[in-house]
Amino acid sequence: MKISVIGCGYLGVVHATCMTELGHDVVGIDVDPEKIALLAAGTPPFYEPHLPQMLSRALATGRLTFSTDISVVVGSNVHFVAVGTPQMVGSDAVDLRFVNGAVASLLPHLRAGDLVVGKSTVPVGTAQGLSRIIQQKGSGATLAWNPEFLREGFAVKDTLAPDRLVYGLAEGDDTGEAILDEVYARAIAIGTPKVVTNFATAELVKVAANAFLATKISFINAMAEVAEATGADVTQLADAIGHDVRIGRRFLNAGLGFGGGCLPKDIRGFMARAKELGVDQALTFLGEVDQINNRRRERMVDLAREIVGGSLEGKRIAVLGLAFKPDSDDVRDSPALDVALRLVESGAAVIATDPQAVATARRRYPDMTYVTTPDEAAKDADAVLLLTEWQEYRALDPLAFGEIVGTKAILDGRNCLDPGAWRAAGWTYRALGRP
Ligand SMILES: NC(=O)c1ccc[n+]([C@@H]2O[C@H](COP(=O)([O-])OP(=O)(O)OC[C@H]3O[C@@H](n4cnc5c(N)ncnc54)[C@H](O)[C@@H]3O)[C@@H](O)[C@H]2O)c1
Repeated sequence: MKISVIGCGYLGVVHATCMTELGHDVVGIDVDPEKIALLAAGTPPFYEPHLPQMLSRALATGRLTFSTDISVVVGSNVHFVAVGTPQMVGSDAVDLRFVNGAVASLLPHLRAGDLVVGKSTVPVGTAQGLSRIIQQKGSGATLAWNPEFLREGFAVKDTLAPDRLVYGLAEGDDTGEAILDEVYARAIAIGTPKVVTNFATAELVKVAANAFLATKISFINAMAEVAEATGADVTQLADAIGHDVRIGRRFLNAGLGFGGGCLPKDIRGFMARAKELGVDQALTFLGEVDQINNRRRERMVDLAREIVGGSLEGKRIAVLGLAFKPDSDDVRDSPALDVALRLVESGAAVIATDPQAVATARRRYPDMTYVTTPDEAAKDADAVLLLTEWQEYRALDPLAFGEIVGTKAILDGRNCLDPGAWRAAGWTYRALGRP
């Protein structure tokens, strides 16, 4: 099929590249000329495992091109809209100007039979409005909403082999499903579950999924708060309740909590939309979920203060991890970066590192001190804070690492180290939710 992808960020680039891998002809459009130049040269503008190789392969086929010129979408029959939907400045609501702008720019180029497919995460009701705008233009094009569930760090795998497909279609649309089935022919062939529904349900599926995941993380972090007050161990508690298949162990890792470009803004946008719809009471618990999540960051700073003897002023703190999760360089609303900045504000001399996210963090906060390796960060440190659970940090040898630091004190913000091994090597080990 001939496909266009409007918006080449974390979602759009992966989608465009994977659609080429699946055999389609794809053009990726973005308003950012730097991004497009990088992509055309085969360099993804962000870190995502397996993407560089797949992008090179896709470009070599000649079936993937990138442009800043929206008119090159002519000739494509399916147009994915994958632009950003950030939180509005000064409000919890979703800023829809990029989605509205992308659809407006597509309108003059749509032809009869074209399908515009929304991938961005939007407040419920958005698709209905956009569908009306497309209809009023009278090109004969239609809209479908096909929310995306990929996880950064696993984006390529999740796009090629999604765990489910959701198609939101307009009432009476009898062609959208067949077109999307052709796009996702490989996933359909292996029996990937598919839910065909209306616009509102498709939009809600995405935010409901993220609300559930955020709630699960904040639930275990609330248990961590209680554990801290009682001498209980939240990691053992999670193991024990996780054995119940109705609960499950995944997403029950207590620690510094969630962040990134999706969960925080999606739950806030969901609450804002619920308020507009007069059903805000249904989602008041998400405000609590958000607050529990933010309290973990404060607690981490308090623990850091405690472990260095009461004041952070002038203390040398090694920060391991800046990305919001491992295998990503994304620092949007990153708990790790947030804690690092709070430490700086408290007067600490922070030396931060991350295997991939130093460049993205530096772009936002050029004044912090960044180094390349954990050893450089830890040199003569008064305390080490592990804030993103990269594999290379999990694998640190407490004996060798103990030779580098000034004081053997570590805060494990992700509950990913073996406390016994670190304590046996002479370290003061502290973590969230554990004695
Ligand atoms: N990142 C993820 O893991 C993920 C997962 C699922 C869903 N989503 C959703 O996907 C959407 C995109 O997220 P992202 O993380 O890729 O955002 P992003 O900010 O990385 O990328 C958005 C891109 O859209 C471009 N853009 C803005 N307006 C444009 C226009 N009119 N025409 C062409 N390009 C335009 C921007 O320049 C940018 O490159 C959001 O709604 C997000 O919630 C993201």
